[in-house]
Amino acid sequence: MSAYIVGALVPIVFTLLLRSSKNVKKRGVPVDVGGEPGYAIRNSRFPSPVETAWEGISTLAELFEQACKQHHDKRLLGTRKLISREVQVTEDGRSFEKVHLGDYEWLTYGKAFEAVCNFASGLVQLGHKKEERVAIFADTREEWFIALQACFRRNVTVVTIYASLGEEALCHSLNETEVTTVICANKELKKLVNISGQLDTVKRVICMDDEIPTSASGRWTITSFADVERMGCENPVVADLPLSADVAVIMYTSGSTGLPKGVMMTHGNVLATVSAVMTIVPGLGSKDVYLAYLPLAHILELAAENLIPAVGGVIGYGAPLTLTDTSSKIKAGTKGDATVLSPTVMAAVPAILDRVREGVRKKVDAKGGLSKKLFDLAYARRLSAINGSWAGAWGLEKLLWNFLVFKKVRAILGGRIRFLLSGGAPLSADTQRFINICLGAPIGQGYGLTETCAGATFSEVDDTSVGRVGSPLPCSFVKMCVSEPMCSQSFIFSCSPLSLIDWPEGG
Ligand SMILES: *[C@@H]1O[C@H](CO)[C@@H](O)[C@H](O)[C@H]1NC(C)=O
Ligand SMILES: *[C@@H]1O[C@H](CO)[C@@H](O)[C@H](O)[C@H]1NC(C)=O
Ligand SMILES: *[C@@H]1O[C@H](CO)[C@@H](O)[C@H](O)[C@H]1NC(C)=O
Ligand SMILES: *[C@@H]1O[C@H](CO)[C@@H](O)[C@H](O)[C@H]1NC(C)=O
Repeated sequence: MSAYIVGALVPIVFTLLLRSSKNVKKRGVPVDVGGEPGYAIRNSRFPSPVETAWEGISTLAELFEQACKQHHDKRLLGTRKLISREVQVTEDGRSFEKVHLGDYEWLTYGKAFEAVCNFASGLVQLGHKKEERVAIFADTREEWFIALQACFRRNVTVVTIYASLGEEALCHSLNETEVTTVICANKELKKLVNISGQLDTVKRVICMDDEIPTSASGRWTITSFADVERMGCENPVVADLPLSADVAVIMYTSGSTGLPKGVMMTHGNVLATVSAVMTIVPGLGSKDVYLAYLPLAHILELAAENLIPAVGGVIGYGAPLTLTDTSSKIKAGTKGDATVLSPTVMAAVPAILDRVREGVRKKVDAKGGLSKKLFDLAYARRLSAINGSWAGAWGLEKLLWNFLVFKKVRAILGGRIRFLLSGGAPLSADTQRFINICLGAPIGQGYGLTETCAGATFSEVDDTSVGRVGSPLPCSFVKMCVSEPMCSQSFIFSCSPLSLIDWPEGG
């Protein structure tokens, strides 16, 4: 019983706190940056852009090392054990791969750091010179993260390439950056083999999987990821740490128009975004569990996976097609990533949230009858409560609806989500509301470009409005370009979604 009383008191205290601060809230204020007028910053707490949230830390390599020292024996990286894999063929001849995945197997911060140092030394043993670039070309997984951090420790710039990129774009990216070492998985290695004749600079391939396709040998040496770690372990090399202004990654965009473009990001650039997000997501800390499944070749995910260790959190790997119990690659009757991990924080792109929403709606409609009536009633009640402010979003009635209705929806993503981060494309207002209400968690919506290192704007956690991307991130000044002659076509394109942000009064 007492848990219920505490449960009821907490929201009331929250309500009071929120009410008292509500009247003074300004989202985005004008700032004088010298030169042209018209710039805005988030608020007066951040008169100049945040560069780092951690004293004495100026690169991602230092940030990771510090985290590993502080949380040595705590869990950091988790990957699910593969129990079985099978191919199911439907009546019309299409085949689907289904997997049965087990529990997470964990690496502590200490062990992860060891793996990173070993891999970094192994790169040297393989003959990779530090001024040469490494490309990572694979789906998001633990080895991706380890390879990234290892390169950072050697001041080696990492070229990131979407695993789904076509042959021409792949050739172009590897050639333009003169990559000598490619780190990939089995699947991507097959793609590389196909174009090996055109890859003049690649000398080595490191394969994340142990079984290496036999057809792959030829112009380059192929070494397994585990062997590189082993070589490094036997021949340790001291770190060669980068400076803040050194280029950490060259990120190839997905290439929606023509060939993909490589965006250079320094350690300082990414650290600023990571620091800014850290200062505005409430209560990020060592209790947080992050489900990592978006492409690490996207800056949103890359920033998130550098942030989580810095706060002492846990990263569990998953994949878009194995996310929930009903995801298409999950074998019937077995569990999806979110169910097994129970994350507290997730990043998502709108397409995924739209899918969750559709899934819930379909389930509710299929059930019909009393369940549907109850759901619709609960939804309507929550909608009108939330419409004013988050203040109305707390209280006893919320607890009741959560218990009766929304608990089941929350369970789809593991039942513990407390914050969702959405980026990559505009999130529809309807979906934002729906997910807000059903999960009972705020969605931070961000807007930015690869070229701006993700962070341009980010909504505030107490902002209950929808269809906006918030005010400038504390690492950015934002200026809207309105005078046409000054805007090239591409600039108009890139700044038009900014009309969604809250603009300072009179701005
Ligand atoms: C890191 O590498 C870059 C490119 O090779 C080089 O210009 C820079 O001086 C290096 N930084 C340090 C601290 O050695
Ligand atoms: C690779 O780049 C070189 C110049 O750096 C260029 O001459 C060559 O055509 C490029 N090859 C491909 C396959 O893009
Ligand atoms: C390799 O190239 C052939 C012919 O261009 C194509 O049919 C095949 O799908 C390619 N394989 C991979 C793994 O991309
Ligand atoms: C939400 O508030 C707006 C204006 O404040 C109002 O027009 C709208 O009807 C409200 N919606 C609900 C569901 O209460």
